[in-house]
Amino acid sequence: HFDQHDSFWLFGYGSLIWKADFAFIERRPAYIEGWARRFWQGSHDHRGTPELPGRVATLTRQPDALCYGMAYRIEPAVLAGLDLREKNGYLRERVIIRFDGGRGEEGLIYLATEDNAAFLGAAPLKEMAAHIARAHGPSGSNREYLLNLASALAAQGVHDEHVSALAALLPAEGEY
Ligand code: BEZ
Repeated sequence: HFDQHDSFWLFGYGSLIWKADFAFIERRPAYIEGWARRFWQGSHDHRGTPELPGRVATLTRQPDALCYGMAYRIEPAVLAGLDLREKNGYLRERVIIRFDGGRGEEGLIYLATEDNAAFLGAAPLKEMAAHIARAHGPSGSNREYLLNLASALAAQGVHDEHVSALAALLPAEGEY
């Protein structure tokens, strides 16, 4: 059990990539196999409101996909403070986290599935981009979330087709 170790790896694929406002022992670019990042989770408390929930990243199983992100080695107590589980019903999964060269280590991801009330699911990319351009919440605009993710991935030299497509389709500010 992860809680019984001194430290373990947490793999971030969304806001955790660029917003590491918690204590970590080390952080390394990494990827996981068999999962694809999708803007399918609704956010009514961070990047949107109950009236207009934002769209944020979650993971969906996809056999041949790779999802690039950032792995953090943290102490169990830090995870408790992150509160990832309670918000919007994120589920915890064990995964193999792969680093440069393909070496793998066990770790955790938190993902939102269709079983949670905030889940929005798939929609045409153009519709999702237009939606993202409109939503704002207490943590900032949904646009900023998408662009932060896009630039954090670009800084890692990662191309994510879904994220790039949404960013390219994002209506200019004031044009939606
Ligand atoms: C992530 O970036 O991995 C993440 C962020 C918030 C909730 C769950 C996962």
